[in-house]
Amino acid sequence: MDSIIVEESGPLYGKIAIAGAKNACLTLMPATLLSDEPLTLTNAPRLSDIGTMSLLLQSLGVEVESLNGGLVLALSSHALKTTRADYEIVRKMRASNLVLGPLLARAGEAIVSLPGGCAIGARPMDLHISALRALGAEIELKDGYLHAQTPNKGRLVGSEYKLKFASVGATENFVMAACLAKGRSQLKNAAMEPEIVDLVTCLKSMGANISGEGTDTITIRGVDKLNGTTHSVIMDRIELGTYMLAPVIAGGEVELIGGKMEFLEAFCGKLTEAGVEISKTTNGLKVKRKLDTINSVDVKTAVYPGFPTDLQAQMMALMCTSNGVSKLEEAIFENRFMHAPELMRMGAQIDVQGGTAVVKGVSKLKGAQVMATDLRASVSLILAGLAAQGQTKVSRVYHLDRGYEKLVEKLKNVGANVERVK
Ligand code: EPZ
Repeated sequence: MDSIIVEESGPLYGKIAIAGAKNACLTLMPATLLSDEPLTLTNAPRLSDIGTMSLLLQSLGVEVESLNGGLVLALSSHALKTTRADYEIVRKMRASNLVLGPLLARAGEAIVSLPGGCAIGARPMDLHISALRALGAEIELKDGYLHAQTPNKGRLVGSEYKLKFASVGATENFVMAACLAKGRSQLKNAAMEPEIVDLVTCLKSMGANISGEGTDTITIRGVDKLNGTTHSVIMDRIELGTYMLAPVIAGGEVELIGGKMEFLEAFCGKLTEAGVEISKTTNGLKVKRKLDTINSVDVKTAVYPGFPTDLQAQMMALMCTSNGVSKLEEAIFENRFMHAPELMRMGAQIDVQGGTAVVKGVSKLKGAQVMATDLRASVSLILAGLAAQGQTKVSRVYHLDRGYEKLVEKLKNVGANVERVK
């Protein structure tokens, strides 16, 4: 298992290019199941999660070709060979559950293993199940698999449904399934993430009839067939937010190529409050600290457009070096503070009580051996290592490969002292 060695770094200067969004690509890829014509995705990120989704789709009989070094994915599901998504692949990545809706709508049935819990909580499928049942799906849980089928193996039936919680995945599964349902569907309390808007943009270019994406009410009028298309994946706002914090923690000024503030308004608002200067450039965003210190700010994660839970760990790393006390509330996942004990090994002062962490900034963190636990926690340790005295060794960096392409290279390009070692 590889580790990443981080030495105290900074100030950082230069440019970091932002890749396509992992969480958009992971829902765009299963959309190929909705049509027997080819779907081509450009600006795809080169990540192990994308590889896992490719394997899963291939196991169903989808042809997936990775072109241009992985930047282009050519998918074609003209002939499916099974409707069963095996535990062996599904257990690696929760987003595998996004084949449920499209597979059901296309083939009239889907047998998808439950994803199993992962580091950041139980993460059940109850919202996905109730949303698809509203479209007429018959779903039962047997030996760890969800067995779903449409009424008489025919088409799903459009209906109105209100989600108990604005789940991203449940919204995506419902919208994809409803595209081919008979009649009109309407999803209330729908998630509003930009990745969902990107999915709908792609579905509409395939011939779907959808409106309201990006609001809490999405209306879909079912069509008989969807065509192929070519779609460019939106930029990754979580990767963007992560790298914006590098010059804030380590000093300097970095330009994020392709960065757009409009997908991260809540996050950018908190950074401004903390004393960060964010300016638009022709190619993206430029970020630097205004002063030598960072003000402590309070953060509560929320569904979009609130502060993203996927940037909570990274923000905590920054607050560990602030000039005051900050309170971080994680309101989306029940267990997403796994990075806190690791940051405390670096001298951070964090008091975790349930879903709230109170962080008292220290003047200098100290390098230590730390362990990555989930995707975003691992990158928060790298960020902390940039500002820590001495050397930080982050192990289990396979978590990082799931969501950050060429992380060491991108950080080295702006002057960070980071190395990947076997
Ligand atoms: C998506 O996961 C993202 N993943 C996550 O990013 C992100 O953290 C999350 O949305 C919230 O923004 C992808 O898009 C592939 P949810 P998803 O359904 O769809 C509970 C990353 O780091 N819930 O909105 O699984 C669930 O337990 C990943 O890139 C139910 O209770 O998130 C969680 O507490 C991590 N029942 C909350 O809702 C359900 O049926 C949010 O889940 C579904 C979810």
